[in-house]
Amino acid sequence: MIAAVARNGTIGADGSLPWHLPEDFRRFKSITMGHTLIMGRRTYESIGRALPGRRTIVITRDEHWQASDADVAHSIDQAIDLAVGYRDAAGGGAPDSLMVLGGGDIYRQLMPLADRLEITHVDADVPGDTRFPDIDPASWKVAERTSRAGFEFVSYVRREPIRDLQILLSTMAPQLHDGEFVFCTVPAGGPPPEDVHPVVTVAEIEGITLVLAIGEAEAAGLSGTFRCRWITLMVASALDAVVHISRRDGGPRRVEGVSVLRRDPASGLVETAPALLFGADGRTRIGPGGERLERLLA
Ligand SMILES: NC(=O)c1ccc[n+]([C@@H]2O[C@H](COP(=O)([O-])OP(=O)(O)OC[C@H]3O[C@@H](n4cnc5c(N)ncnc54)[C@H](OP(=O)(O)O)[C@@H]3O)[C@@H](O)[C@H]2O)c1
Repeated sequence: MIAAVARNGTIGADGSLPWHLPEDFRRFKSITMGHTLIMGRRTYESIGRALPGRRTIVITRDEHWQASDADVAHSIDQAIDLAVGYRDAAGGGAPDSLMVLGGGDIYRQLMPLADRLEITHVDADVPGDTRFPDIDPASWKVAERTSRAGFEFVSYVRREPIRDLQILLSTMAPQLHDGEFVFCTVPAGGPPPEDVHPVVTVAEIEGITLVLAIGEAEAAGLSGTFRCRWITLMVASALDAVVHISRRDGGPRRVEGVSVLRRDPASGLVETAPALLFGADGRTRIGPGGERLERLLA
């Protein structure tokens, strides 16, 4: 993601940039040239055209919106799919970066998937109506910093191995993709439900969680807590596995969280330890399974 951000987080005011920094424009151009850019409809309209030499994907919910110099996507997932398609079609010589150009709405939604931030920190509090999400030092570290009078160019990279993880996940074939599944929690100590065939049984503090096909859960009168479209299980050793859950209402790249599982051979139950949690606020947090996940990825 690339952005210029004031000390108080402002990135925009009344639909445009609240400053004019020619050196920042030059750096922006050199970083983005040749790459595919993803931007929100309002940012596109504030620029007024696609930027030359860069393929542009504009995200809008308006089915009728069009631009002669840009491609249109109607969701974040569709924009990513389009961009990945261009890159794959271009073959090995294509630049491998998809750049997110803003604005505030789009930065907030794509922050959990970003692996690099190119930020121009403007050294002033600037009034405005659009903000950049907070850059949490627990998730991001400074890779490079160049100071100028009144502003600073800072490159941030993720602390967690998110890139490795994304690659790992992309190689994991979904094992359960034929139906839709629901997570049902049965209180600890209670009788096990009859006539159900859970695809996964997870021992959790609140009780036993069963992952069931939706039809089966409904027939057994079990109400679900969490629906998902597909689940990927990768067995990394005899005991460990990584589970990747994508929510039913999101596309396959909308990762809700990644957990590390450990199967108890005696009971057959699987314990789960959340490793990475992608919050609705756009932050990524490392959960108790984080260290185990790093060992599995090492
Ligand atoms: N300082 C910087 O580096 C920088 C960079 C970029 C932009 N900006 C500033 O940021 C401001 C614009 O930001 P913004 O937050 O108002 O708007 P934005 O993020 O540029 O665009 C928001 C629009 O994108 C579409 N959209 C968002 N999420 C979507 C989704 N999940 N599915 C489909 N469409 C979706 C919607 O378009 P529809 O309404 O058409 O449905 C929404 O109104 C401007 O002031 C601009 O100058 C600053």
